[in-house]
Amino acid sequence: MKLTATTQFGLEQLLADELRELGAEITRVGSRAVEFTGDQTLLYRTMLWSRLAMRVLRPFAEFHAPDEKGLYEAVGQIDWRDYIGEGQRFAITAVVNKSTFEHSLFVAQLAKDAIVDQFRSRSGTRPDVDVRHPDVRFHLRMLENEVTLSILAAGDSLHRRGYRQGTNDAPLNEVLAAGLIRLSGWDGKQPLIDPLCGSATILTEAGLIAQNIAPGLFHEGVFGFENWADFDEDLWERLREEARNKRIEAPQAYLAGSDLDPRVLEQAVQNRNAAGLERCIRLSVRDVKDAKPPQHQPPGIVITNPPYGERIGDETEMEALYKTIGDTLKTSFQGYEAYLFTGNSVAAKRVGLKATRRIPLFNGPIDCRLLKYELYHGSRREVSNAASE
Ligand SMILES: C[S@@+](CC[C@H](N)C(=O)[O-])C[C@H]1O[C@@H](n2cnc3c(N)ncnc32)[C@H](O)[C@@H]1O
Repeated sequence: MKLTATTQFGLEQLLADELRELGAEITRVGSRAVEFTGDQTLLYRTMLWSRLAMRVLRPFAEFHAPDEKGLYEAVGQIDWRDYIGEGQRFAITAVVNKSTFEHSLFVAQLAKDAIVDQFRSRSGTRPDVDVRHPDVRFHLRMLENEVTLSILAAGDSLHRRGYRQGTNDAPLNEVLAAGLIRLSGWDGKQPLIDPLCGSATILTEAGLIAQNIAPGLFHEGVFGFENWADFDEDLWERLREEARNKRIEAPQAYLAGSDLDPRVLEQAVQNRNAAGLERCIRLSVRDVKDAKPPQHQPPGIVITNPPYGERIGDETEMEALYKTIGDTLKTSFQGYEAYLFTGNSVAAKRVGLKATRRIPLFNGPIDCRLLKYELYHGSRREVSNAASE
């Protein structure tokens, strides 16, 4: 089958690599999306194992829609009984770009009418629409009046793994957190420290990687594809069992995080425990200025996502915090590699180290960078002449 997986900006190539490893044949790497082909086993493995896919779509119809009548008729020509079973509720969303149709909502509404009218004229009954918890979810993409209709393999976005218990102010999207780890090239064995860990999304994703835990095992409720007509329950159960068996119990890497705020740390503890990683991640309340690497361990990697300070008046506080982060890295983390993920380029300059990589990413709408610093022994002395970031 032809499939498309969406992801965050900047993670497309890594997603393509991940899918290839799962057995996919990649046909196109686009912006925030990767197109690929594979069989049912691959689709189910993707839902279980992908750390970088947000949505997985299975396109099933393509046509040109010159106008409203053309769109309604083309949608009506598809046999929707192939996709919506008896008693199933559905939802359809639309995204419209560079088209003579201006409003996505209107396009979705028109497509919904065409689907419902087809059922009504055939049997006199119509399927219900449920935008929040549909059994089957469709996506209509219109680019310059060329339409692609797809069915979504997961009801929800895969970044909602199911281990998050509460939310602090600015938790990282789980796919983005996994992407930061992949971008850093972490080998799954070195110590990984997050000294401003918030709800511990980076550490939890790292724990899942290190312990070879399939993120899809946490998914709550059924996946969209479990309601498809061709759903193979035996195959799905076999692949789930295989995934459960691949989990490594003994901790594989030293993972530790800290945060200044005890309430946020409590959420980190809950998330970690919900992911079954109590034995793998150490968490404590601590100011970043007191963060220390573990003793008797080879140097590892720091990956952290400090606050950006979106409120007016935060500037001085942020600059001081980033300076403290830089000082701590230089003093205590020599031999480490550090990755700072931030949307505050002004404060980032106060780190006082030269970034050796600057990877553009987004955190929601915020233009961000993942900045890499190499903390050689002696980088403390180099700081004064460093061309700072
Ligand atoms: C953007 S949030 C991190 C979010 C995290 N990546 C997550 O997914 O939940 C930044 C965190 O830095 C913490 N923080 C701010 N100042 C700190 C300091 N001086 N020392 C340690 N943590 C600090 C905040 O409490 C907040 O939880």
